[in-house]
Amino acid sequence: MSAPVIVVEGLRKAYGDVVAVAGLDFTVDAGVVLGLLGPNGAGKTTTIEILTTLRRADAGRATIAGFDVATEPERVRRVIGLAGQAAAVDDRLTARENLDLFARLYKLPASVRRARVDELIERFDLGGFADRLVATYSGGQRRRLDVVAALIARPPAIFLDEPTTGLDPRSRLGLWEEIRRMAADGAAVVLTTQYLEEADRLADHIVIIDRGEVVARGTAEDLKKDLGRDVLVIHVTDADDLPRAAELAGDGVDVGTDVGHRMLTVQLAGGPPQGLDILKRLADAGIPVDDFQLRRPTLDDVFLTHTEARR
Ligand SMILES: Nc1ncnc2c1ncn2[C@@H]1O[C@H](COP(=O)(O)OP(=O)(O)OP(=O)(O)O)[C@@H](O)[C@H]1O
Ligand SMILES: [Mg+2]
Repeated sequence: MSAPVIVVEGLRKAYGDVVAVAGLDFTVDAGVVLGLLGPNGAGKTTTIEILTTLRRADAGRATIAGFDVATEPERVRRVIGLAGQAAAVDDRLTARENLDLFARLYKLPASVRRARVDELIERFDLGGFADRLVATYSGGQRRRLDVVAALIARPPAIFLDEPTTGLDPRSRLGLWEEIRRMAADGAAVVLTTQYLEEADRLADHIVIIDRGEVVARGTAEDLKKDLGRDVLVIHVTDADDLPRAAELAGDGVDVGTDVGHRMLTVQLAGGPPQGLDILKRLADAGIPVDDFQLRRPTLDDVFLTHTEARR
């Protein structure tokens, strides 16, 4: 097997007293999409900024395609594509001009530049506004351009920091397809997202971080399986009953409430019998229930389990 494209060892970064990245280790092989997940402030963007040479780590080491991000930033920049949370495109140019500029920066030969720009404009449906100044774009149009700019040179390592935030459903599906295509062509992709269903569908491996540390890693399937428990979802008739219902679910039981949906979510460490017991207690207490459901854990459950308890 060939060496991983992205290698991260013991990476650390603090901003004054705030430790943003507290010793991260992971690798990403060619052809693999890694989902880097975590709550707001967990250190995802800081990690991506270090790996894309925009920021220096305090300690640890990272290499991209064998180049060290700290000592060979120029070479690293030539083998990566980045769509960041802060857009890199120029407002005073059109999409077409921006993409041409990126293609030149990556030293794409003139003979293929034009065709590649046209291909991506077509594929990402930028045609309707590609010749207008970026300053006039909507949020989603700008986001799409930003992502396309990261992909233009087909780099071996691609970093996408919340690429689908603000995209309409069609654009989101289009981007998912493109990310899959880039991975199938051999790119190593690091993707952050707050849409866990997206990570579930796209990522081959998932790393969940919290306060700059890895709190869980594995495939989405393994992470869900490791949780090893079903989830009981109960819709109560009256939202005012939720606090009492949560109490009745029992001490030391992991319960979430959602007032807007009049919904109680209980992680069942004790399996279905525990669920029956809870439903009986609600009935005995005279709390009316509209419906209930037992479901397998989702990646949301994995995320909440590994991150919430630490807040
Ligand atoms: N330039 C900075 N100066 C000081 N603190 C910073 C700076 N950038 C980030 N931080 C802090 O570092 C921590 C990690 O931030 P980071 O942006 O990496 O998180 P994130 O996981 O990308 O969050 P989000 O999901 O909100 O994008 C946070 O506590 C943040 O407030
Ligand atoms: Mg971020």
